[in-house]
Amino acid sequence: MGKYIGKQVSYATHGIHRYPAKFIPQIPRFCLESYSKAGDDVLDPFMGSGTTLLESYILGRNSYGVDIHPLARLIAKVKITPIDPDHLSSLAQQLFSRIRADDDDNSEWIPDIPNRDHWFREDVLRDLATIKKHVWRMRRGDYQDFFKICFSSIIRKMSNSDASSLIPEVTTFRKKLDAQGRTSFDSISRFENAVRSKLIDAEELWRLSKEVEEGYWSYPETRIIGNDARDIELEDSEIDLAITSPPYASAVHYVSVHKLEMYWLGLLDDLAKLDGSVVGTSRAYVNEYRPWRPRTDIPELKLVLSELLESDKKSAYIVYKYFDDMRRNFAEMNRVLTRAGRYCMVAGENTFRKVRIPTYAILARIALKTGFEVKGMYVYDVINRHLDIPRWNNSRIEKDHILVFQRRRAPTSSRL
Ligand SMILES: C[S@@+](CC[C@H](N)C(=O)[O-])C[C@H]1O[C@@H](n2cnc3c(N)ncnc32)[C@H](O)[C@@H]1O
Repeated sequence: MGKYIGKQVSYATHGIHRYPAKFIPQIPRFCLESYSKAGDDVLDPFMGSGTTLLESYILGRNSYGVDIHPLARLIAKVKITPIDPDHLSSLAQQLFSRIRADDDDNSEWIPDIPNRDHWFREDVLRDLATIKKHVWRMRRGDYQDFFKICFSSIIRKMSNSDASSLIPEVTTFRKKLDAQGRTSFDSISRFENAVRSKLIDAEELWRLSKEVEEGYWSYPETRIIGNDARDIELEDSEIDLAITSPPYASAVHYVSVHKLEMYWLGLLDDLAKLDGSVVGTSRAYVNEYRPWRPRTDIPELKLVLSELLESDKKSAYIVYKYFDDMRRNFAEMNRVLTRAGRYCMVAGENTFRKVRIPTYAILARIALKTGFEVKGMYVYDVINRHLDIPRWNNSRIEKDHILVFQRRRAPTSSRL
């Protein structure tokens, strides 16, 4: 694989919204070109912001996406839905004028955010509420969703959080910048700029959609089909190819990363509940892990668990649960893939409580147990990724693997 940076990885709507641990579009593209043809059905069970879905669409494949994260599902929906840029542009002008002309008290539009004044200044809350009111009063549908994503994309920037933290955090460094007048709190201009820049992305997607319409004999279908990669809402043997980058054990706190956006968008009822249902969650309760007896015949996992058990049982349980959830995902993929369907997965290594976890190797073992064969493995460098997955060697150059599994038989074991 060559070197990919900047615009090359964020063309069309790929960069429509920030999302942690995105993979570069060239990865799903490589898998799509190697293992599928136009008209095939492709699934990403941990779709995140929808990179696989957009690439599938551009290449004329039907695609399906699953993610437990409500904001991911909204980002992906906007990312893959072509909308008419002329109409979008005129809606944007109307919206800007309404927002600029509004000097009502819109405080009823401010959501309940735990610790609200810690996260947002009074004037910012006021302006965000005004923007929200006018976006939410638009007709529901694809155009409104586009503006919701524009609104969401400015929330973190307008909050008091340090821009460089993955999870929102008010730091002394940020407070210093504020005191020196080096941060802007003009939410309305920020929103307008976000809309203008995302309009350019939407235009590019629209143009691509015309090419797709003309280039393929059947127009590709793109759908977000459900929430849980362990229980996929598809019939047996429907999928020709699956491509994903799964979460890692306790690595990225997907829910906390976007909690401020989700509060504003009304997408977060119960943070703890959502966080607990994410594969790779670091939440574990005493009544779960106290009676748990570590059992596995995967040598690499045995080693990891025994090292973790030396310090605490909870950490070992978190890692075990992650791999068991991934086993459930593999079993589901075995069910939904066609007889010799392939499952391409991007994975590397990570560390948890200073213990090295060869995640990709353990996932490959789980694949074998669940009826897959390893058909190929590609290794590539990830340079300076903005990610907080702690890596084993702490270097800025990391190795990731694209593992290619092929379905061979029904799962032979339902245990790790
Ligand atoms: C590494 S990210 C995927 C990023 C994606 N490849 C992209 O380019 O945006 C992993 C995703 O798995 C999702 N996830 C975690 N648990 C899940 C579950 N039980 N079912 C479906 N998705 C889940 C997370 O919300 C996160 O979006």
